[in-house]
Amino acid sequence: MITAALSICLIAGTQAPPLTDKEVRIIGTMSPVPPAPPDSSNRVADNAEAAMLGAMVFNRSIFSSNGAVSCATCHQPGRSFTDARAVAQGVGVGTRNSPPLGSVAHQRWFFWDGRSDSLWSQALSPFENPLEIDSTRVNIVRVISQEPDLKQQYEALFGELPDMGDAQRFPDRAKPGMPAWDAMSQADRTSVTRAFVNVGKSVAAFERTLTVGRSPFDRFAQALKRGKPTDGILSPAAVRGLQLFIGEAGCRNCHSGPLFTDRGFHNQGLPTADGLFPTDPGRAGGLESARSAEFRLGSVWSDDPEGDRARRAGNATAGPEHWGAMKTPSLRNLPTTGPYMHDGRFHTLAQTLAFYNTLEGHIRIDHHQETILKPLHLPPEDILALEAFLESLQDGAPDARSGKNKPLIDVDGDPMLDASE
Ligand code: HEC
Ligand code: HEC
Repeated sequence: MITAALSICLIAGTQAPPLTDKEVRIIGTMSPVPPAPPDSSNRVADNAEAAMLGAMVFNRSIFSSNGAVSCATCHQPGRSFTDARAVAQGVGVGTRNSPPLGSVAHQRWFFWDGRSDSLWSQALSPFENPLEIDSTRVNIVRVISQEPDLKQQYEALFGELPDMGDAQRFPDRAKPGMPAWDAMSQADRTSVTRAFVNVGKSVAAFERTLTVGRSPFDRFAQALKRGKPTDGILSPAAVRGLQLFIGEAGCRNCHSGPLFTDRGFHNQGLPTADGLFPTDPGRAGGLESARSAEFRLGSVWSDDPEGDRARRAGNATAGPEHWGAMKTPSLRNLPTTGPYMHDGRFHTLAQTLAFYNTLEGHIRIDHHQETILKPLHLPPEDILALEAFLESLQDGAPDARSGKNKPLIDVDGDPMLDASE
């Protein structure tokens, strides 16, 4: 256990050796965050009116069965779109941690196990999840048709909503898998599902506008790239932490590129609370779900079902090593996105780093282990340095010494950089 006083003392003494050319080059690949790639599967992806409808839907709790839960319950703007809980609590209590949404449109797969292959299909799932918003597509479309501002915004974009007035023809609790759904006519099921998909695509359009802003690390990386002085932007400890991160600590093997994720899946071998074999199949189950998902990229609901992304998603394979694997999370805004890991088991960054340092309790089982992961066995001052570096990834945070905070948006027109492709 390191006391606060000792940690200040350890960290104050940390000096970073000068950066090598190789380090400077690598740091250049980690900033800035480029614009999100286009999404041809969603024809309103970059439509500002759709984003406005999406924002309205995202923030309203009228869709939920208890009238109290919206997307923003678990994805709160003031907490980098997370909820400060270990596992999510909506209408019920879930089993996984709510991820941040800043720059989420860069992801290739959504959810910790990647069981959605598009942002718009992801957005549809919380509505019908009994533990989250606990509604049905019929009810979502009905609420939109009853709320004048939502109805107007929807119809201006997508045309007339189905006539939801007849509660017998459109029973509120009808969704696939329920007898009430099977009793509806095929045409009504299609028209409700189409409207539901349009809502998901609008929510995705809103989510595409959620970006991570400039952090002290970005200011450091930009200054470095331009050959300008970097003194005082990061503390010496944070610079040392950055060197460890891209060097001997091996973090960049998985947390690479400007979003600090390879967007892939890895098994950290996290021990279970009872020390038994983990039961969450992670990516192995996620890929299977993504393949058979009603709203997958290759489905009739996509605006580009034959496109490249649909083809690549359809061809993705999982091996035995994917059992229990989770998506590498972005590390941006970490100070405001805890608790950490897919099950929110670590409440602080220090606890998370302590795990990487010792891999204590790490479960290594043939085929399921992550071979890149080795215990770091770093001394306490290096762990504190890594923590100082991770803290510099918070957007809007002031520089280490001057407290100076530059605008959050990169207006310098830097070329797009994405080292994770
Ligand atoms: C009850 C809390 C809760 C609600 C309500 C909720 N979410 Fe989430 N969200 C989560 C959790 C937990 C996960 C991760 C679940 C998993 O991986 O199985 C998640 C995952 C996501 C992801 C995937 C992010 C990534 O990097 O893979 C997106 C995007 C998202 N939610 C958007 C939304 C939208 C849009 C809504 C409203 C339609 C919504 N969420 C409603 C808790 C919630
Ligand atoms: C083998 C790939 C890999 C390596 C190497 C790796 N990570 Fe991770 N990291 C992951 C994955 C996957 C998760 C999510 C694991 C889970 O929830 O089960 C994760 C989670 C995290 C989290 C929690 C983030 C959150 O939002 O919950 C932090 C912090 C973190 N890693 C930092 C680091 C640091 C620092 C290093 C280097 C010491 C490192 N990682 C090395 C893949 C990796």
